[in-house]
Parts: sequence; structure tokens; C-alpha cells
Amino acid sequence: MSTAVDKLMTLSPVIPVLVIDQLDDAVPLARALVAGGISVLEVTLRTPVALEAIRLISEEVKGAVVGAGTLTDARQFAAVQAAGAQFAISPGTTESLLEAGLDSDIPYLPAVATVSEMMACMELGFTGFKLFPAGAVGGVPALKAFAGPFPDVRFCPTGGVGPDNYREYLALPNVSCVGGSWLAPRALVAENDWSAIQRLATDAVTHSR
Ligand code: 3PG
Repeated sequence: MSTAVDKLMTLSPVIPVLVIDQLDDAVPLARALVAGGISVLEVTLRTPVALEAIRLISEEVKGAVVGAGTLTDARQFAAVQAAGAQFAISPGTTESLLEAGLDSDIPYLPAVATVSEMMACMELGFTGFKLFPAGAVGGVPALKAFAGPFPDVRFCPTGGVGPDNYREYLALPNVSCVGGSWLAPRALVAENDWSAIQRLATDAVTHSR
């Protein structure tokens, strides 16, 4: 695996998948998560303020490793890098995303949902993947099965991972980290309840291993 991707996947056992609607929420949200012990933050490109949120977090939140999620178009690599993203994640992948990921200066974590997709990515040298949507495509049993033919592949299962099951995922030797939106529920963000979010982060990290 590329060292940079490997390193990214082991920086934090849990990666919050952030959907930021209001730009003003970006910095306090990131600060709450970092204060709670989570340094790796995925800001999804699902809202109009996402790029600006990445920029603000990267400039203002000490200790945060902020990246971009939900890349669906290779051209987004340039935009997220310009905004200061330190990594990029996509919910699936395409040939052009993989090529852009290989050319990019920041680590790229493509997502797979099947063995054949994984094998196509491995032909290009990728061995670290988001598994998405993890719960719907087989979850823990699928990851256990992948370990047989692909012992060197590492995963970040995301999608259907939450407080009730994230430890089961993290207990698997081929799971380096998990991702999920449960660490920053939109309702708590809307209420600006940063202390509740900090508690969620602390709780997730404390019980992660
Ligand atoms: C993602 O984009 O990775 C998912 O939306 C996160 O899935 P979750 O909401 O089930 O955690």
C-alpha cells in the first residue's frame, strides 16, 4: 500500500463523515472533534460550502487532518487540493478517478463494494479501500471473507457503521479504521451542540480498541 494511504488509515480509528451545511459550523465542529480525540476529518463535497469548509478547517484548526469526501469526478482533485485537503475519498471509483488519484499529491482512498472492483484497483497498485456501503454489501462477514484471498488489503468500512457495531469492524485485522456520520449528527450540528459532539468523539475513540 502506498505509505501515505497506509499512514492516513492508521491515524485515527474512526473518521467522521461530515456534511457541513453552514460554513460557520465548520471550525467549531472540527475543533470539537479534535478536542474529543479525532484528528482525521472527512468533509463531504455534498454541500455548496464544502470546499470553503475544508479551507477554513485546514487553516484554523490545529491538529486536524482534513480531507475531502464524496469525490465523484476526477476534476475535483485539483479543487480539493487547492482548498487544503490532505486526502481524498470517493464513494466508489472510476478509471479517471483512479488515474487522478495516482497523479495526485494527496493520498486517495477509493471505495469498493465488490471483489472485482477491488481487483481492478489493485492492478493499479491500490491496496487500501473504503468499503461502501459497508453494511449493505456484506459488512463484517464480507471483510472476513476478503482476508483469505487478499491478506494485504486494508479497509475503512463506511456506510451503516455506527456506535453499535464499529468495534466489531475495528476488531478485524484487515480493518484499519471506520468511517461514519454518527460522530457528527446533523441535528447536533444544527443545534451547535459542540460539547455533545466532543463527547461522541471521546466515547468513540475511548472504546475503539
Ligand atoms: C458516507 O458517505 O460514507 C456515508 O454517508 C456514511 O454513512 P453513514 O451515514 O451510514 O455513517
